[in-house]
Amino acid sequence: MNAVAVNPRKREVVLIDHPAPEISAGTEVKFRTLEVGICGTDREICRFDYGDPPIGDDHLVLGHEGLGEVTEVGSDVHRIKPGDLVVPMVRRPCHHSHCVPCRKDRSDFCMTGDFVERGIKQYHGFMTEYVVDHEQYLCVVPPALRDVAILMEPLTVAEKALIQIWQIQKRLDWECPVVEGKAPGHCRQAVVLGAGPIGILGAMALKVAGFQTTVYSRSKVPNLKSELVESFGVRYISSESTSPEELARMLGNIDVVYEGVGGAKVSFDVLKVLGLNGIFVFTGIPGFPLPHITVDGELIMRNMVLKNQVALGTVNAGRDAFEAAIHDLGIFMQRWPGTVRSLITGRFGLKDARGLLLGAATGIKNVLDVA
Ligand code: BGC
Ligand code: ZN
Repeated sequence: MNAVAVNPRKREVVLIDHPAPEISAGTEVKFRTLEVGICGTDREICRFDYGDPPIGDDHLVLGHEGLGEVTEVGSDVHRIKPGDLVVPMVRRPCHHSHCVPCRKDRSDFCMTGDFVERGIKQYHGFMTEYVVDHEQYLCVVPPALRDVAILMEPLTVAEKALIQIWQIQKRLDWECPVVEGKAPGHCRQAVVLGAGPIGILGAMALKVAGFQTTVYSRSKVPNLKSELVESFGVRYISSESTSPEELARMLGNIDVVYEGVGGAKVSFDVLKVLGLNGIFVFTGIPGFPLPHITVDGELIMRNMVLKNQVALGTVNAGRDAFEAAIHDLGIFMQRWPGTVRSLITGRFGLKDARGLLLGAATGIKNVLDVA
């Protein structure tokens, strides 16, 4: 089978011949890969910032944003059948009996760090033709979402953030009063940092949850991304023309900031203007080398205390977030089908993967069409 892999020891990104997997346990499912999304994480692995092959292997097959069609199921598989579309989860539990989250199917909150991640950490990913995985890590996707289902895994980042936002804000009476036709965030201001896939999908999820949502990103208006964001009813403001202080004056109390840029400078500048009882969610992972930046620590600490603020980091996602992503992607497609489809800016073959992974980043979400 063809596969796209990294060899960190030799510092190579290569197309390899990878053995085809076979079902070896009753709970396993075999699927044919249809598509694999490419993201910043993959590009960082290809710069050898991180990314580890399975123990005893030289190569790590890349790809953690997958979509497949089931070809075969083990004898103990009941929920999934051949022909189903599936999106695999990324992380698998560590093996320590004392790790409560992993033992309770919440490896996204693993306490030991010894989890593995498909296509990232010690477990082969999806940039190959066939994959075998356990039923419990696969989410069945309705056929109607076939052409956009590859956006599900990046959307789970936003969904996990939203689940936590609602949970944490239960500390006060934060949900908005019930108004017919409006979702529970309707009285709250949310700011999304960045207009990449994580930012745009986050803005869509916040919008569906009712938040008055603004994307705050670098490029001056108008540009392709500002037009795209405005096409689903979210305001776009450029950080080139509007400072964080001006942004806060325009919006009033900023209740939520959802960071999807992976850079600390703009993040901490906006943290300074987070509102009363506000929650700031970091999802981006700054890449190496990590530059030193100056942060207004005293002011931020003062605000965090006097304004009851929360700063939250979130990584990976559990089954609840995958299910929320399937649900929300369905809503996105009812409301903004053209916009959702336009997030996928290119489909390429496995043979083009090296160029996409190593060349300059282009488009919004580029996808390998493996089928
Ligand atoms: C993936 C996560 C993963 C993280 C860190 C992200 O790109 O979406 O599932 O946990 O990288 O490895
Ligand atoms: Zn990713």
